[in-house]
Amino acid sequence: MKEGIKIVTVGGGSSYTPELVEGFIKRYDSLPVRELWLVDIPKGEKKLETVGQLARRMVEKAGIPMEICLTLDRREALKDADFVTTQFRAGLLDARAKDERIPLKYGVIGQETNGPGGLFKGLRTIPIILDIIRDMEELCPEAWLINFTNPAGMVTEAVFRHSNWRKIVGLCNVPIGMKMGVAELLDVKPERISIDFAGLNHMVYGLNVYLDGKPVLDEVIGKLAHPDKGMTMKNIADLGWEPDFIQALRLLPCPYHRYYYQTEKMFEEEKQAAAESGTRAEVVQQLEGELFKLYEDPELAVKPPQLEKRGGAFYSDAACSLIDSMYNDLQDIQPVNTMNRGAIASIPDDSAIEINCVITKDGPKPIAIGDLPVPVRGLVQQIKSFERIASEAAVTKDYHTALLAMSINPLVPSDTKAKQILDEMLEAHGLDFVKRGGERTLVK
Ligand code: G6P
Repeated sequence: MKEGIKIVTVGGGSSYTPELVEGFIKRYDSLPVRELWLVDIPKGEKKLETVGQLARRMVEKAGIPMEICLTLDRREALKDADFVTTQFRAGLLDARAKDERIPLKYGVIGQETNGPGGLFKGLRTIPIILDIIRDMEELCPEAWLINFTNPAGMVTEAVFRHSNWRKIVGLCNVPIGMKMGVAELLDVKPERISIDFAGLNHMVYGLNVYLDGKPVLDEVIGKLAHPDKGMTMKNIADLGWEPDFIQALRLLPCPYHRYYYQTEKMFEEEKQAAAESGTRAEVVQQLEGELFKLYEDPELAVKPPQLEKRGGAFYSDAACSLIDSMYNDLQDIQPVNTMNRGAIASIPDDSAIEINCVITKDGPKPIAIGDLPVPVRGLVQQIKSFERIASEAAVTKDYHTALLAMSINPLVPSDTKAKQILDEMLEAHGLDFVKRGGERTLVK
C-alpha cells in the first residue's frame, strides 16, 4: 500500500456521499484517505459534479490533505484502489418507482429490497456488480469491495456464487439503526448497547441485547410490546408490533420484518402512501431535489442534517468503521454480510449471511451462533432460497428462474400473481428474459 489509502466509490454522485466524506474526515487520523475517487455514469454527471464540489469544500474546511477525484471512467478510478465501495442505484429512482408501484396493483407490496421490487433491483444490479468485479480482478486485485448497493444480501450471495471474488463485505445500516433505536427506547447512549445480530440482510434478528454487557432483551421486548410504539427507520412506516406476538417471539426483529409479520397492514399503508404522497421512490425524488439544492450552495461545507431524513442515514458510520477496522486490523465486532462458513447451522456454508463478525485485516470472521431459533429459521431459509434463485436469474436471464424467484418470495401469494407481476415488470423495465423450457442451469 502506498502512503495513505485510495478509496473508490462507485455511485459517487449519490446524495449519500457527504455522509461518507464526513465519516472519512472524522477518522482521518486512523484512516488516512489520500484519494477518494467518486465515479458515476454520464447520466449522473451533474450530480457527481455537485456532490464532488461539496466534498472538496468539506475536506478543505476540515483542513486535511484528502484529494477528491471525480470521474466517469470507472476503470481509471479502480487502478490500484485499496477499498472500493459500491452505492449505485441501477436504473435510478425511476426504476425504483416502478418496482414499488407495479406490484401494488396486484395487491402485493413492491419494496425495493424484499418483495418483487427486490427481485428486480437484483436483476438490474447483479450484472453490474459482476462487471465491477471483473475490472477489480484486473486493476486492483488486492482491494476489498464494500457493497452497500441493495439488495445487499442478494448481491453478496451472487458474488459468492457467480464469481471467484471473495474479498467482498456487504454492509447495511439496519443493525446500527436497531442499536440506536434500542438506545432511544432505554434512554441511554448507543455506545452502551450491544446486540447479538444474526440472520440475513433486511432479515436480521437481535438474538440478545445488552446494556453495559448485561442482558436486557426482556426489558426491550417489554417496551416494544405496545401496539403504537415500534422502532423503525425513515423509509419504513412505524407500525407497532402486536404486543403478544413480540412477547412470544422474544427476539428483536428488524424494521423490515414488518413486511413479513404485518403484511396486510404494510400493504394498506404503502397503498395509501402511494396514492397520497407517492411511493417511497417518489418521496425520495423530492427529497433528493431538496438535498441537491442545498449541496449546490457554495457556502455549504458540512453534511446537511436534512440527509438524516433518508432511510440510509448513518450508513457512513458503519462503512467508515468497517474500513477503519480492516485497515488497522482492530479485531472489533461489527455486524456485516459475509460468507457463512458454518456460523449459522441451517444456512449453507457458502451463502451470505448478516452476522456479528470480528473485523480483521483479512476480512470479517463470523461469530458462530449455532442455529437460529426454530420460529424464525424457516423464514430466513426461505429468503435465502429467494436470494439464491434471484441471483441465478440475474446471471442466466432465464425467465423460468426469475418466475421461480418471484413465486417463492413470501410476499407473493400465488404462482399466477407471480407470473402477472413478473411479466408486467419485465416489460416495464424493458428486460429480455428467455424461456429455456424449464431447463435450469445452476441451481441444484
Ligand atoms: C434503509 C435500508 C437501506 C436502504 C434505505 C432506503 O435504511 O437499510 O438499505 O437503502 O433504507 O432509504 P430511502 O431514503 O432511499 O428510502
